[in-house]
Amino acid sequence: MTTLAPLRFEPQGTVGRKGLGAAELAALAPKLLAVREEILQADMRLFAGEGTIPAEKQPLDAGFLDLPERMLDPYMTERRSSELFQILRTAQELQGKVDRLVVLGIGGSYMGARAIIECCCDPYVNELPAGERGGRPKVYFAGYNVDNDSTRGLLHLLRATNRPGDPHSRWGMIVISKSGGTLETAVALRQFINAWVETYGSDQLGEFLIPITGATGKLANLADAIGCQTRFPVPDGVGGRFSVLSAVGLLPAACMGVDVVKLLEGAAAMNDHFRLASPGSNVVLDYVAVNHLAEVNLGCRTRILSAWSNALESTGLWYDQLLAESLGKQELGALPLTVVNTRDLHSRAQQHQEGRRDKIVNNLIVDGYRHDPLSVGKTGWNQDGLDDLAQRTMPELMAAAIRGTNDAYREVDRPTTDIHLPLANEYSLGQLFQMLMLATVVEGRLLGINPYGQPGVEAYKLHMNRYLRQS
Ligand code: PA5
Repeated sequence: MTTLAPLRFEPQGTVGRKGLGAAELAALAPKLLAVREEILQADMRLFAGEGTIPAEKQPLDAGFLDLPERMLDPYMTERRSSELFQILRTAQELQGKVDRLVVLGIGGSYMGARAIIECCCDPYVNELPAGERGGRPKVYFAGYNVDNDSTRGLLHLLRATNRPGDPHSRWGMIVISKSGGTLETAVALRQFINAWVETYGSDQLGEFLIPITGATGKLANLADAIGCQTRFPVPDGVGGRFSVLSAVGLLPAACMGVDVVKLLEGAAAMNDHFRLASPGSNVVLDYVAVNHLAEVNLGCRTRILSAWSNALESTGLWYDQLLAESLGKQELGALPLTVVNTRDLHSRAQQHQEGRRDKIVNNLIVDGYRHDPLSVGKTGWNQDGLDDLAQRTMPELMAAAIRGTNDAYREVDRPTTDIHLPLANEYSLGQLFQMLMLATVVEGRLLGINPYGQPGVEAYKLHMNRYLRQS
């Protein structure tokens, strides 16, 4: 199987259902085409400064759309002066300098990097000895909560695993905040700066702390004051949850040896597909069509992303944020829920099989495996009664579980769709990221919701600050 195979979307598990039939899909197609035109033409013109952005479209963070090409093209033509080259060079330098990397950020400044690393790296990368990690650091995420004990735990681990006198045992930080003022991340940064200075002194802090932030703001000011030698921008017009394919996701991933060029190439391929393919064979438009019709015609307001791979759990959580913050407005928007199977067949599937009829299940299926298949095999004991399956492999068991679960849902008329990733790798994930970001914007425009911005998130911050600043 080629590693550059396209992602596929198969809505068979919905076909023929009342409200989701050929007639409804055909009726929706012209609207989807009009929305695609709006996103690719009208929105991009407004985004480029042609005309006034109407109030209902503000903010218009359409910069994610051609971001893969804007990262790749200068890298291919100018190479050394491109931002992507700087990202790769910084990652390589960091690999030579640190054996532990702390990535600080929250929301869109955290979830994408985690999703990439969990999908594309060894699942136990942090537990592997240095030689097996091939020069990559161990990676830890923080700054996404104000959790005392978890922060203390990581600070303790960093101190306890320090090897004084060994210049290769140092740890470093990437801090990510577009606004530069997010409390959770800023508070964590203070803790980790203090721990770093306590261990290594302050002289070289600016070499080991890499900010990814806006051109101005509190974090940019702090980076100036500390003298951070390298920093990267969160591009203008790219919202946090749409920023995974900027330095926000790419730098931490590149530090972990992820092939970020392939990731961007996958996303760019999805852009080409989205622009050109017709409804019926366009994975973005078809995904929106089925999920939208299931919601409005069948009342499927809960949208389950059923990841059939442990490596994709964080990708599911990234999508939960994307859908919730983009479309959870004006008392609309489906409720996202990520499950990992077969794990959650033993916790949630009962409800999906027999609970309220308010759910659509979008399976996220990985067709290939990176490693040789494990067989059930024999141990010399057959008390578990599995000898007759001894020749079966784990991928075969997984395939049977997917088919069996889809059959079980079909028997009771529960809608499902299948998204097929050729492999859990960079090229597939790049396609998936871009597909889901495009789909979210298409659906937003279809519903008359601005998918960008998250005004509702400010409310808790105001109340929290009120409590904190009370005397
Ligand atoms: O999608 C978004 O914009 C948000 O989830 C932000 O990423 C999140 O609030 C973190 O913001 P910042 O990067 O400014 O610290």
